[in-house]
Amino acid sequence: MLLPFNFVRCAGMIAACLPLFAAAAPAVESQRLYQQNCAACHGEQGDGKSRAQFGLNPPPRDFTAAEAWQELSRERMILSVTHGRPGTAMVGWDNRLGANEIAGVVDYIRSSFMRPPAKTRQVSGQQLYKRHCSACHGDRGNGASWAHNSLNPPPRDFTAAGVAQELTRERMLLAVTHGRTGTAMMPFSRELSATEIETVVDYVRATFMTVPADTDAPTPAALQEPGRARPAADMTAALPGGLRGDADKGRRFYLSNCYVCHGEHGDGQGPRASFIRPPPRNFLAPEARLALNRPELFAAISGGKRGTVMPAWSSVLGEQEIADVAEFVFTAFIAPAPEPQKKKVVN
Ligand code: HEC
Ligand code: HEC
Ligand code: HEC
Repeated sequence: MLLPFNFVRCAGMIAACLPLFAAAAPAVESQRLYQQNCAACHGEQGDGKSRAQFGLNPPPRDFTAAEAWQELSRERMILSVTHGRPGTAMVGWDNRLGANEIAGVVDYIRSSFMRPPAKTRQVSGQQLYKRHCSACHGDRGNGASWAHNSLNPPPRDFTAAGVAQELTRERMLLAVTHGRTGTAMMPFSRELSATEIETVVDYVRATFMTVPADTDAPTPAALQEPGRARPAADMTAALPGGLRGDADKGRRFYLSNCYVCHGEHGDGQGPRASFIRPPPRNFLAPEARLALNRPELFAAISGGKRGTVMPAWSSVLGEQEIADVAEFVFTAFIAPAPEPQKKKVVN
């Protein structure tokens, strides 16, 4: 009954197909790859001291410098090595190295050459931007990067006319925190603290955008972004069409077909979850518990979620079976009955 998920994963989702999630090649092999392909410019010791350094403008990166530590996240490095840096001698390697080789050589550079600077200062908005955002949005915030022609939709050009009217501070905070479903814009809530997200968003607004005086109040439209800050739903609402779900039957189906992504305990941590962007919904999160009533669950399960790997189960299951699995998700994870005596519903 399992669908061919590997296929769905790549067909549906651009970000999941970026090499960011590839397993790294072994260290010895990566060292060889570095010395063979990269040392001619970046130097055998990774310090940019090579014969090529004087001929190149900008010069190759010195990975041992403090700025390299501050600016180059693993993700940015993988993206730069894969796609190159337009207008520099750093070309993309995706036609010569596999995704796991690129991840391996980046890990080799990070562990062999890059060191945290002696004094750790508070990171500035500019450093955060360079580290986490510029690989896609461009050094000048205008979206001029490899991603411009490779990603659909392309990254935002923050300098374009009218952007400040559309992107309120609130909407930007939401986008950076939670990502944008179905696009390469990933969530940063795990990597960055709430304060860092505010710092980098304020940096983008101050540096690249012409912000009119009064756009900073959240507009109702911004708060109704699909999948974002949803209004709390009526949790007593029944399944559509007078259907009544059988949670026990639903549980069996869930544990053979949904747990691979959403996890046995509904926490979004199934065995496949770490490869999937956007990640499978965590049914235990407060947003889910406020929004996913029975009708919402029924609709999401039968229709799938566009731009994600969540399949439309209506092509596989009948209405009654969808009702059963919706009932199970609702009673086991979204609104579990507070009965400490009773045996737990899952396992
Ligand atoms: C022909 C010379 C050359 C070769 C070969 C080369 N690089 Fe580079 N690399 C550069 C230059 C020049 C830059 C600086 C680009 C810039 O400042 O935007 C750079 C920058 C980088 C960066 C930082 C990118 C960023 O986001 O700022 C990384 C990481 C990197 N190179 C890794 C590698 C790896 C790994 C290899 C081998 C697979 C390699 N380079 C091979 C010239 C080279
Ligand atoms: C892997 C590429 C990538 C990286 C890295 C990235 N973005 Fe994005 N970003 C995108 C794409 C693609 C879009 C367009 C999404 C869309 O049109 O819905 C986008 C859109 C946005 C938007 C507009 C969202 C909206 O509501 O329309 C903001 C704000 C943003 N990014 C900020 C950032 C910040 C800040 C960072 C760094 C912390 C960052 N991005 C890192 C690819 C990226
Ligand atoms: C291949 C991985 C995968 C499988 C298998 C899968 N899901 Fe999902 N599911 C996802 C992803 C990814 C999302 C989208 C999360 C988002 O919108 O950010 C999602 C979203 C959902 C949502 C929507 C939540 C919302 O916010 O609207 C529900 C409900 C759901 N899944 C239930 C199920 C059920 C029930 C099954 C089994 C019948 C299942 N899923 C199987 C990956 C999967």
